[in-house]
Amino acid sequence: MRLAVMGTGYVGLVAGACFADSGHDVTCVDTDPRKVEALRRGEIPIYEEGLADIVVRCAREGRLTFTTEAGPAIRDAKVVFCAVGTPPGRNGEADLSAVFAVARTVAEWAGGPKILVLKSTVPVGTNSKVTSLLRELGALTVEVVSNPEFLKEGAAINDFRRPDRVVVGVRTEAAADVMRELYDPFVRTGAPILVMDPPSAELTKYASNAMLATRISFMNAIATICEQVGADVDLVRKGVGADKRIGATFLFPGVGYGGSCFPKDVQALAATARELGQPFSLLDEVERVNERQKKLLVTKLETAFAPLGGLKGRTIALWGLAFKPNTDDMREAPALQIIDGLVALGARVKAHDPVAAERAGEMMGRHLQSGALEFARTMYDAVDRADALAIATDWSEYRRPDFDRLKGLLVRPWVFDGRNMWEPAVVAALGFHYASVGRPDARPSATA
Ligand SMILES: NC(=O)c1ccc[n+]([C@@H]2O[C@H](COP(=O)([O-])OP(=O)(O)OC[C@H]3O[C@@H](n4cnc5c(N)ncnc54)[C@H](O)[C@@H]3O)[C@@H](O)[C@H]2O)c1
Repeated sequence: MRLAVMGTGYVGLVAGACFADSGHDVTCVDTDPRKVEALRRGEIPIYEEGLADIVVRCAREGRLTFTTEAGPAIRDAKVVFCAVGTPPGRNGEADLSAVFAVARTVAEWAGGPKILVLKSTVPVGTNSKVTSLLRELGALTVEVVSNPEFLKEGAAINDFRRPDRVVVGVRTEAAADVMRELYDPFVRTGAPILVMDPPSAELTKYASNAMLATRISFMNAIATICEQVGADVDLVRKGVGADKRIGATFLFPGVGYGGSCFPKDVQALAATARELGQPFSLLDEVERVNERQKKLLVTKLETAFAPLGGLKGRTIALWGLAFKPNTDDMREAPALQIIDGLVALGARVKAHDPVAAERAGEMMGRHLQSGALEFARTMYDAVDRADALAIATDWSEYRRPDFDRLKGLLVRPWVFDGRNMWEPAVVAALGFHYASVGRPDARPSATA
């Protein structure tokens, strides 16, 4: 089948590549000429494991092309996917301007029956609005399908190829059949293709992300109580997660959720609820807890350094910049707030991330220019002569470092772990002062 994918970001590029890999002819369209040029040269603008191989191979075999020319791509396609960004507007609502721009271009070039698939995360009712716009513009035979994307950055290829479920919101059985044909190769192990009405499909995406964000904030709030009463959130987490009704996943406390989805989707669902006159105040609290959690490491560092005269003039090593491991996405990454907070208190930050430093640098130019932030080539360069180490992202290479080397490089063997990567008793025995999230601080044991 001939497909066009509008928007070549995390979702559009992964979807386009995976559809091309399953045999379809895909044209990926983006308004950013630099991105398109880079993709034509085989350069992948984002870090996502396995993506480059698929893109390069499918492009070489002629099934995947890149262009800024939307018109011909739309005209020739049977199905047009819309995977453009839907960032938060001024009041948290989703900014749909790029989605409507795509709809206008589709109306201009459709020329006959077509399916426009909304893969971008859009508020309930958007399918109807886009359909009305198409009709107003004379595109009478374009059916709008809602097909929210659930892939996780860092595991996007695997998630797209082996989804837990595919959700499609359709108005006609014919559109449902086309969607089944597209997704059948990815659900061979029995994952369901859930066909439903468009509003239900649109809401399913927001409900899923809001539920996941709620679990994270819930556990972060529990972790705060743990710290106050001397309980260990790891034990609480295991005890809670063993309940089959709850399950063990997504119960890890940390420095707060980030990324391009949870923060904006929680805000957008709250905005939808407000517009409907039914405020969803639970979501406001989820966000509030998350904002507080993003400040946690800075507060812990500030408290620890207070007896030594504060953080002014100190160098803090920071391991991890991306909002989660295996991605270079820095959107809403807690590390950004951690760096801002430390610099505001007069500290210098030496940061390391296996892949996200370049993107972080684009967002933190002012700190780089002032010399308050520097990127280290290796995780050990970052800690060399630093007064303490803070951990913001649980990259696997941080799980088992050379602790002796780490201790030798740090001015003080102080670690502030925002991801609970290490066992407190173990690192205390190795001579570290170790603060983590929701667990009692561990001090170097006498034998260390
Ligand atoms: N990133 C994720 O993990 C993820 C997961 C699930 C769903 N989503 C949703 O998918 C959508 C896309 O997210 P993303 O992270 O891929 O966004 P992104 O910002 O990485 O990419 C969007 C791309 O669309 C391009 N674009 C903008 N207007 C365009 C137009 N009119 N025509 C063609 N291209 C245009 C931009 O240049 C950009 O390259 C969002 O709604 C997001 O909420 C994202």
